[in-house]
Amino acid sequence: MSKDIVIALDEGTTNAKAVALDEQGNVVAKSSRSLSIQTPREGWVEQSGELLLQASLAVTGEVIAQVGAGRVAALAVSNQRETAIGWYRASGVPLGPAISWQCSRTADFCHALREQGQEAKIKAVTGLPVAPLFSASKMCWLLNSVPNGQALAEQGEICLGTIDSWLLWHLTAGEAFCCDYSNASRTQLLNLNTADWDAEMLALFRIPRQALPEIRPSSGLFGYTKGLGAIPDGIPVMAMIGDSHAALFAHSIGAAGCVKATYGTGSSVMAPVASAQCDVKSLATTVAWHDGERLVYGLEGNIPHTGDAVAWMAESTGLSELPQAELAQALNSLPASVESTLGVYFVPALTGLGAPWWDEDARGLIHGLSRGVKRAHLVRAALESIAYQIADVVVAMRQHGDFALKALMVDGGPTKNDWLMQYQADLLGCPVMRSDVPELSAMGAALLARKALLQVDSEQLRQYLPEHVTFTPDDLRHGRLQNRWHDWQSAVQLARRQKTQAG
Ligand code: G3P
Repeated sequence: MSKDIVIALDEGTTNAKAVALDEQGNVVAKSSRSLSIQTPREGWVEQSGELLLQASLAVTGEVIAQVGAGRVAALAVSNQRETAIGWYRASGVPLGPAISWQCSRTADFCHALREQGQEAKIKAVTGLPVAPLFSASKMCWLLNSVPNGQALAEQGEICLGTIDSWLLWHLTAGEAFCCDYSNASRTQLLNLNTADWDAEMLALFRIPRQALPEIRPSSGLFGYTKGLGAIPDGIPVMAMIGDSHAALFAHSIGAAGCVKATYGTGSSVMAPVASAQCDVKSLATTVAWHDGERLVYGLEGNIPHTGDAVAWMAESTGLSELPQAELAQALNSLPASVESTLGVYFVPALTGLGAPWWDEDARGLIHGLSRGVKRAHLVRAALESIAYQIADVVVAMRQHGDFALKALMVDGGPTKNDWLMQYQADLLGCPVMRSDVPELSAMGAALLARKALLQVDSEQLRQYLPEHVTFTPDDLRHGRLQNRWHDWQSAVQLARRQKTQAG
């Protein structure tokens, strides 16, 4: 039997998904599990690392069983980024919950770094603005949360990592403690110029180097599975990469110089750039991937609450009680059932604002309520907030001369919403091209594994790429939406002020 299948595990914030891709790039089996998120205090967001692992093992095992273990050539992992987890090296037991990328518990630590005047240096070394989003301050918090954490980490008894390294460590029964360059670049500890952990950053964030994983190319051998749950022994893990980067990899093979937006719990607008020197003030410079031959850099704007904003609105208006299929249908039809939001703007700064504002003190706001506002208007406002937030980042990206945005390539669950895609195209005044494979992050990771297996150039992976559906902007609507976009930005400023006033 030929080993023709790559299994891609996509471990996200709200779901763990596994898909099996055959040699033509067709999805031949899939499985998914939803994941819970805990919010124990205002601004705190965490997940059980053990549940992330169990769900990941379960979906991967199910997909392997569907295709038959004998056909599996490799495993590839794409994962939610920035989320930090610590565990004891001897037992694999976590120090506590994984601290989610959405969590702002380290906001004070980040304020203190800014007050000490460290921001410019940190941005120059790591490419990232100082923000609680990134893993470094979360890792420091984790070490401080257990007795003797710092000392144990210095003695090499504690491992700190992003979710890729947590999953790999368990998949290989503790043999491989590695992460890939894309995940490393989201910690705020990677020096973009040396492509290694940076001694000065480690000191600033009080992270002993011994606690961190080895950094490897995103495409290549990471280790072999060691028969865990329904996953048999000996499957090579041939790729690991952050989910947003994986989607960019898949988009950019087909469209060099593209700008893409991944719509998930949050969103990431990203484009490949020529060097680590590319600097736009309100955006992050990051490693896009290492394809086994070279490092590719990316310019990115992270938005913490997009799909999540709609989920919050659906929960708050009772819509989430509907069965899944009816809910998806309602999210398409409700916003189109009204002409406008009746002047309502929802700024989903539920744990602060990311790019291009980077304001962890901002808090969510529903602005412009009047007596006639109904659920449809509120749901429409939540969907519009996704489009506005993405457009704000695209505007920041356009400040960089390299980006003449010909089209925005998009992927991720919320892009199934045709109404949202058309609104995005009209708002930006450029075509929006939706990948017709919803699991594009998984596909990007699988392509990187395929690249390592076949030892081919990235360009030769083109044949596997999915088709696109294009949403063409309407000039008239584009013109009309500019006033609304302007009013949205005023609402953002109100969301930024209210916390300051409360504090
Ligand atoms: O940066 C966070 C991002 O990687 C989370 O992705 O798919 O869980 O929304 P997702």
